Amino acid sequence: MATPTRNLALELVRVTEAAALAAGRFMGRGDKAAADHAAVEAMRLMLTSVDMDGVVVIGEGEKDEAPMLYRGERVGTGAPPAVDLAVDPIDGTRPLATGNLNAISTVALAPRGTMFDPGPIVYMDKIAVGPAARGKVDLSAPVEANLRAIARAKGDRVEDLTVIILDRPRHEGLIAEVRRLKARIRLIPDGDVAAALMTAWPESGIDVLLGIGGSPEGVLAACALRAMGGEIQGRLVPRNEEERRRGLELGHDFDRVLTTEDLVASDDVCFAATGITDGELLRGVKYSGGGATTDSLVVRGLSGTVRRIQAVHGLEKLNRLSAFPY
Ligand code: FBP
Repeated sequence: MATPTRNLALELVRVTEAAALAAGRFMGRGDKAAADHAAVEAMRLMLTSVDMDGVVVIGEGEKDEAPMLYRGERVGTGAPPAVDLAVDPIDGTRPLATGNLNAISTVALAPRGTMFDPGPIVYMDKIAVGPAARGKVDLSAPVEANLRAIARAKGDRVEDLTVIILDRPRHEGLIAEVRRLKARIRLIPDGDVAAALMTAWPESGIDVLLGIGGSPEGVLAACALRAMGGEIQGRLVPRNEEERRRGLELGHDFDRVLTTEDLVASDDVCFAATGITDGELLRGVKYSGGGATTDSLVVRGLSGTVRRIQAVHGLEKLNRLSAFPY
């Protein structure tokens, strides 16, 4: 019998907590850029404490436009293990800036070379389900076939299902089709990483995520769902001819359905998320009496353990220790 090994996910949660504590100060202040800057800075600083040789695969953009946590940046102490990193210091900058629900901070890691890199392709069409419907869906099949398959797998009727969809004009046809099939719909203004996670979280009441969202968010969701026993499939969607051309040059196939295993090719995946504003899944940061509370989800793929971590932070002490002012 092997001895227990280190759980890097438990170190990642400090990283998402740091970003959430920094970003939470900007709730409702209408300044997306300042919130993002604070979250990125706090996240990057905390990442320097993690014993790992990390490369950012999913980050804040190319080096020229993003000075921190850009694609290709090395993070961690440089000690083994060699890992790929996906970061989203704030998923839901808009809801955070307007004081709305479901902004989270999130990070995932997996062994070096196992994370899919969408490069400059911004959007991905997605279908995501929890463990009960894993292996039953197919992104290339009609919506009706997928909803029927999910309902069958869960012993439900299509009318019982709740489909979560980003509220965007591009989803008009999809929404009309789901309505025709009489499934229930949750339209969300933002945040499809949290939405994908909800499919694997029975209390959320969400059965499936459908529609086009960010490609980086698709890879992060794949890390979480792989670890939690769910499934996501994605297809890259170019926004224009220029993006198509660049994608083809990089070897992307816009007809290919990427499986969860294509998006992250290892079970040895770690995922952490901390709530910034309140949501169905996680509570947001609360500041009071010189302290703050955070609520996080920590998942380790090797064991499949899902932890909920509620933390109380003493900001005075923290500020004495940290170069980042919380
Ligand atoms: P950001 O917080 O990084 O802006 O992402 C929010 C988000 O809603 C993602 O969750 C989602 O994948 C993406 O934006 C959808 O993109 P768009 O707003 O362009 O439709």
